[in-house]
Parts: sequence; C-alpha cells; structure tokens
Amino acid sequence: MSGAFFDENWKRTVYCGRVNQDDEDKTIVINGWVRKRRDLGGIIFLEIWDHTGLVQVVINPETDVSLHERAKQLRSEYVVAIKGTVKRRPAGTENPSLATGNFEVIAKDLLVLSPSALPPFDPNEADAVDENIRLKYRYLDLRRKAMQGNLRLRSKAAQYTRVFFDGEGFVEVETPMLTKSTPEGARDYLVPSRVNPGKFYALPQSPQIFKQILMISGLDKYFQIVKCFRDEDLRADRQPEFTQIDVEMSFATEEDIFSLIEAYMKGLFSETLGVQIQTPFMRLSYADAMERFGSDKPDLRIPFELVDLKDVFDGRGIRAFEVGKNGAIKGFVLPDGASLSRQEVSTVEAMAKELGAKGLACFQWGDKLKGSMVKFLDEEGTRLLIDRSKLSQGEALFVMADEDKSKVCEVMGQLRLEVARKHDLVDKDKLAFLWVVDFPLFEWSEAENRYVSVHHPFTSPKNEDLHLLESDPWNVRARAYDIVLNGNEIGGGSIRIHDPKVQESVFKVLGLNKEEALDRFGFLLTALSYGTPPHGGIALGFDRLVMLLAGVKSIRDVIAFPKTQKAQCLLSGAPSYVDESQLEELHIKVIATEDEEEQS
Ligand code: AMO
Repeated sequence: MSGAFFDENWKRTVYCGRVNQDDEDKTIVINGWVRKRRDLGGIIFLEIWDHTGLVQVVINPETDVSLHERAKQLRSEYVVAIKGTVKRRPAGTENPSLATGNFEVIAKDLLVLSPSALPPFDPNEADAVDENIRLKYRYLDLRRKAMQGNLRLRSKAAQYTRVFFDGEGFVEVETPMLTKSTPEGARDYLVPSRVNPGKFYALPQSPQIFKQILMISGLDKYFQIVKCFRDEDLRADRQPEFTQIDVEMSFATEEDIFSLIEAYMKGLFSETLGVQIQTPFMRLSYADAMERFGSDKPDLRIPFELVDLKDVFDGRGIRAFEVGKNGAIKGFVLPDGASLSRQEVSTVEAMAKELGAKGLACFQWGDKLKGSMVKFLDEEGTRLLIDRSKLSQGEALFVMADEDKSKVCEVMGQLRLEVARKHDLVDKDKLAFLWVVDFPLFEWSEAENRYVSVHHPFTSPKNEDLHLLESDPWNVRARAYDIVLNGNEIGGGSIRIHDPKVQESVFKVLGLNKEEALDRFGFLLTALSYGTPPHGGIALGFDRLVMLLAGVKSIRDVIAFPKTQKAQCLLSGAPSYVDESQLEELHIKVIATEDEEEQS
C-alpha cells in the first residue's frame, strides 16, 4: 500500500477530535484508526478516530487516482496516518453531533501503519454487544468513547487523591503483596512459596494490620492506593482484585476521619465533575438505618422509608398480622400508588414473595381506602393506620408482617429499592452521602457456631459498652463507620483497639484462644505492646467511587481489565493450568475435581 515508514513526516500535527477553525486551509497530519469507510459516488469518506474523537477525511478520485486506489483498501480499525488540507464542509453537510463536524480533511497522502483483522464488533456500537465478547476483545472495547472516558476519569480521580492526601500530610507507603493472611471475612488468594515447601503467602485482603503497624511506627498519617484481593462471590460491585484508598491516622477520633473524608469527597467531586456537594454528611446509626430503610447502606434518593406498624395491628386478632414478641410489621407508602392496577399491585406482591415474604398487604386510598385487609380494621384501626403511615389520598401503603423482625427489615428494605426503581422514583440528580455509625461489634455465625466480627477483629468497642464485652457481646457497639453514597457502600473503617488487653478479650469472644491468636496475629499483639498511639482509619472502595463518578452500573466498566463473575480474565485466559514441572518445584499436587475425574 505504501512503502513509507512512520517517521517525523507522518507524526500527527493535530489530534483527530481537535481539528477546528485554526486549522482551516492548513495542511495537517492525523494519526488514528479507521472507524468507518463509505464510498459515495466514487468519493471515499473516512471517519478517523483517536482518543480525542472523530474527524471526516475525504478522498476524491479526480484529485489523485493512486491515493483513491489505496484508500479503497482501507477497512475498519486499520491504523493510518493521513496528510491533508482542512476545509469547511459544504453548507448543509455539517454534522452537529461531532465536535469537528464543520470541517473535513481533504486527503493528499495516506500511510497504512497497521492493518486490522475483521473486528468482532464495531466499537461504536459495543453497548449492545455481549459483555463476554467485549471482555475477550477488551482492547477494542476500550476504543469506545465511554470506556476511554471512564479510564481517564479514574486516572484523574487517582491523581486528585494523591494530591489531596499529600496536602493533608499523609505519607504514601507501600505494604507487601506477599503476606500473611489478614482476616476481612473473605477467602484468601494463596501463593505457594518455592523456597519454603508447604508454606503459602496470602495476597492481602487489605493492608489492615500493616497500616496499624505503621501507626505504631510513628508514621502518624498513612495512605495508599492499593490493590486488595478477596476470593468471594462476585457481583456488579465486587471484583476478586480491586483497589482501595487506604487511610490511617494516629491520635485520631471518628470526627477527624469524618471531616477528612468529607473534605476529600468535596474536592474529588468538584475536581472531576465540577459538582459541589454539601458537607457535613448526615449520620445514621446502624439500628436506625435498619429500622427506617431495612439496609445498612440506605439509598436516601428514594422519597419514602419504612414505617413501623406493629402497634396498629397488635391485639386486633388478624391472623396474618399476629407476629409475636419478636416479630415486626412494617410498611412503606408509594406516592401515586392509588392508581396502580390490580395487575401492578400483584407484581409488587410477587416481588415481595420472591424476596422471602409470606405475603404483602396493600392499602390503596383512591376514592376510599381499599385492599383485602381493609375489612379487618374498624374505624379506630383505620385512623391509626393512616396516622402512623402518614398515608394520604392518592397513595398506596404496602405492609409486610413476619415473626422474624430482621427478615421484615431486609425484605421491605429490598422491596423499597425495587419498587422505587420500577416506578422511576429514584432522584438521579441527587448525591446522597451518609455515614452509618454504631455498628454492632459482633454478629453470630450459624455456620461457624460462634461470634464473628462485623467489621474486623481490630475494631474498638465503644467505651461505654466495654464492660459488656465478655458478659453480653451481642449488645456491644463498635467504633465503626461506613460511608454510603446513593445506596452503595463506598468505604468503611473504624477506630482500632490500641490496648493489647482489650484486643485479647475480643479474640476470646471470637473463640480464638491465646495460642491461636498468637499464631495468627502474634506480630500485631507484640507490636501493640511497644507503645501504640490511639489510631483509626478507613478504606474507600476506589472502583465503586469511580463507578459512581462515571454514572455506570458496574465496576467492570471502570476497570481496564476486569474479571467475570467466575473470576476469569477472558482476555488473557487466567486462571490457567500450569506445567507439571512448575507444580513440582512448588511442591504442589493437584487433586482432580469430580468433574475432571468423570471426564477422564
Ligand atoms: P472493607 O472490607 O469495608 O474495609 O473494605 C473497604 C471498601 O472496599 C470496597 N470493597 C470492594 N470493592 C470491590 N470489590 C470487592 N470485592 C470489595 N470489597 C470491598 C468497598 C468497601 O467499603 N481494612 C478495612 C478498612 C479499615 O478498617 O480501615 C477494609 O478493608 O467499597
């Protein structure tokens, strides 16, 4: 096609998407990818793309036959250098949807830098392409404007993060990737040690213990943008390897962490999106969040919350609403719900059942109050129901009752989200930040038949609950907090235990005896005994934060090379089998799974 090499003569003088009136009548060089080629009455129109955008190139057979012949060979995604003169497009042929739409480049010469195989999809139309294909050919997917934007936004957010924390006196310290298992509630990714047969490193679930040790070391303020690894079930907001903005401060209380992170968020949203957010953020206790929203990460953009209706129905002898001492009856009011058809009400009931409810009652107040349960309420009961729920004419009230209170909270919390989404009641223009505080320190694990930490074992109990630690662990509250944005947990942290005695008591409640605790966390316990400042911190989920900044629904869209739900990288084919010799060196024997045995 052209024998010329890529040299100074062929280097771009303008980015494709930046061609403008200053270039008019000038000769320019552009470098990029052929996005489209159209032949119209002998004239060839090319759309040439680089990360700044598209520009139209015109090749007329009458000006240069050989150039026209060469241009005919071009296909989608070929990489080219084009030399040409910038002209205003003839009146009526401008393209207002393109930044360069008033101009075109009349080609004088063309160099093919690299041909392309037939792409499996057009990057312009990749939205409609199956995600697995996009992940397999991720380089093509990343040529999309949206993905380019997401990665650049992520880079900008990372730069801002460094500037902010550096400005606040934080030191960026790298902590090891090959380390000892630190518990964050998920399974570890293990790495065998060749020189220590039978021993394994764990990839860090977080740098938790190391950042605490840095405080004992007198670093005072630490941060790190760090990869963490967790072998857990994956969802749209979870990846096996993900990035945290990890932060720790000495001589700090909750208030220091809150105001630091609020200032960071304010700057981040202003710097990356030009959006001003209000601080301080609202605070809600875990108990209130569960009561009012049935969730520890409530989405406050939804204009209705859960209401407690137990006393409305207590003692009225309505079978479905007899829930006993530990039960609960909760409802929420759907604005405009009176106009829902029978079919629409049944759909909500079906959603509730799908989530685990035995049933769902609906009270619709149109001309009058109607619903299958209305007949069970006398005048006083009806008045109380309306009073408690604040139901108004035109609205509907959905009510669930169950003997298990936490089930009612969970189901109604989830139903609130689904109904709000279905009826388009989430205020998408809002940024609803909040701190959830006063989490319980422990929860009971049925599977392990013991208490486990809600956050992690290094979280400090509240001072006023310290005396309950061994006698009544269930009721001990933690100095832990989560930061929530639009119903997403974007970070979590706590004030840590700095007294080795309290740490030992917590391990005891967790069922770890002294030997086990020493074996797993001895290095921390020893370090704690050498002069530990009070300290605390937080880790923000950087992928989730960028996902929300970018306004996309999955963290996969803000990670260059993410993994699938089965933790596979479709681009590289990881994980993969390795050579027998490699395994031998690592002293590892693989036990065939049942599937493999069946196949052989
Ligand atoms: P935590 O476990 O709450 O705290 O994690 C902090 C934040 O990291 C994000 N996150 C994830 N993001 C994507 N994929 C995952 N699999 C994933 N898991 C967690 C969430 C979460 O809020 N060491 C403590 C922090 C501390 O106490 O300072 C910790 O890791 O946004």
